[in-house]
Amino acid sequence: MTPTPPAPRNDAPHGAGAAAAADAAAGGSTGDPHSHRYAARTAGMTASEIRALFAVASRPEVVSLAGGMPNLAALPLDSLAVEVAGLIAAEGQGALQYGSAQGVPVLREQIGEVMAFEAGSTSATGGFHPDDVVVTVGSQSALDMLTRLFVDPGDVVLAESPSYVGALGSFAAYQAEVRHVAMDDDGLVPAALEEALARLAREGRRAKFLYTVPNFHNPVGVSLSADRRPEIVELCRRHGVLVVEDNPYGLLGFDGQTYPSLRSLDPENVVYLGSFSKIFASGLRVGWALAPHGIRDKLVLAAESATLCPPAFTQLVVSRYLATHDWRSLVKSFREMYRERCDAMLAALEVHLPDGCRWTRPRGGFFVWATVPEGVDTRAMLPRAITARVAYASGTGFHADGSGARHMRLSFCYPPPERITEGVRRLAGVLDGELEVLRTFGLSGSGARPSSGGPGPQAPAVDTA
Ligand SMILES: Cc1ncc(COP(=O)(O)O)c(C=O)c1O
Repeated sequence: MTPTPPAPRNDAPHGAGAAAAADAAAGGSTGDPHSHRYAARTAGMTASEIRALFAVASRPEVVSLAGGMPNLAALPLDSLAVEVAGLIAAEGQGALQYGSAQGVPVLREQIGEVMAFEAGSTSATGGFHPDDVVVTVGSQSALDMLTRLFVDPGDVVLAESPSYVGALGSFAAYQAEVRHVAMDDDGLVPAALEEALARLAREGRRAKFLYTVPNFHNPVGVSLSADRRPEIVELCRRHGVLVVEDNPYGLLGFDGQTYPSLRSLDPENVVYLGSFSKIFASGLRVGWALAPHGIRDKLVLAAESATLCPPAFTQLVVSRYLATHDWRSLVKSFREMYRERCDAMLAALEVHLPDGCRWTRPRGGFFVWATVPEGVDTRAMLPRAITARVAYASGTGFHADGSGARHMRLSFCYPPPERITEGVRRLAGVLDGELEVLRTFGLSGSGARPSSGGPGPQAPAVDTA
């Protein structure tokens, strides 16, 4: 599952008892006898909307278009079992011992090969040495550590509108103020970023970093166009803002298409995050950060204090997999599998969704971002969808301020194509019911409106949070 998007509460009272005060303000005690003890920053740590639904959404009769779980069906489990046994036999205690906080050296070298595969060549990666790499416990832990390193309470972080829930969770946990920046079909809009940067300058403030998912974005599904990349990087450099480039989906373009990394355009001002979760096995929790030297050293210190070191065993499993399997071919088969599922979803949306809905048309990754007619609230509608045995993630989870109720993320990564088709059919039935109520009672909006261009390729909805 993709983790939770808590709404940051930067105006929460600080100091001892702040969490209890926030709890009381939120309607009373949770019954937790320790609530008066928690640090103020825990006020921003709230349960994920998605996780709260997980128990019902994962029942077999429900088609879940909600989670972002990678589909591991193509993994060669038998040969992996042999390699894992061989690893213990060959490495012995070494595989089970503490390791370096920066990560196993052989894996840091192999990460160069993975990045070169995406970039097309070693030189196109922007050039780096294995010493520049820090192996992390998934890219999520890199995000958490980076936020810990850079964000004091109230500091501004810029992020796309909408943004990855796990990142919003880390930003909330460190009491960042998130300012969302608009996207369109070509990703982050440079003019909107410029405006956000200029506004901060007028306020005498500066964002600590821009967090961006340039490739096959979670949750929108689009990619930042090649011509916008230098512009984004240049704007951030000019305004003295670091870029955090999160790229777990970059190798999952359905046609094998890839884009130059932001890091390759400005290695000294971009921290790049990669992950084996979507191209190998998410449960091993292995990702990496590629950072300028000063930041790399701080990340190693942060990793030491968080976990002493990333697990040597899972790193060696990844390393052995890369050395013994044709992982490039496996990545290609993942692309095909996700393409087939995405096609099924797009076809079903076209057939079933009512007029007035629009959605993105991803060329890679896991997600479609859909916009429903005015007056429909996807968060309020969710229990009715679950009753109709389909689940999705409401757009509200992807905005730090909880806006985005006219949107939903539909994941095509996990269910087989026929289940996706059935899930979209059920979802359309629920939407029809909502629109009928709106037409009859005229509740909270103007109800269904014909879409301007029909349900073809559309710009993702932009929320100016
Ligand atoms: C954009 C984005 N970043 C980071 C992550 C976390 O990945 P990992 O499994 O490497 O921690 C995810 C997982 O869904 C994601 O979608």
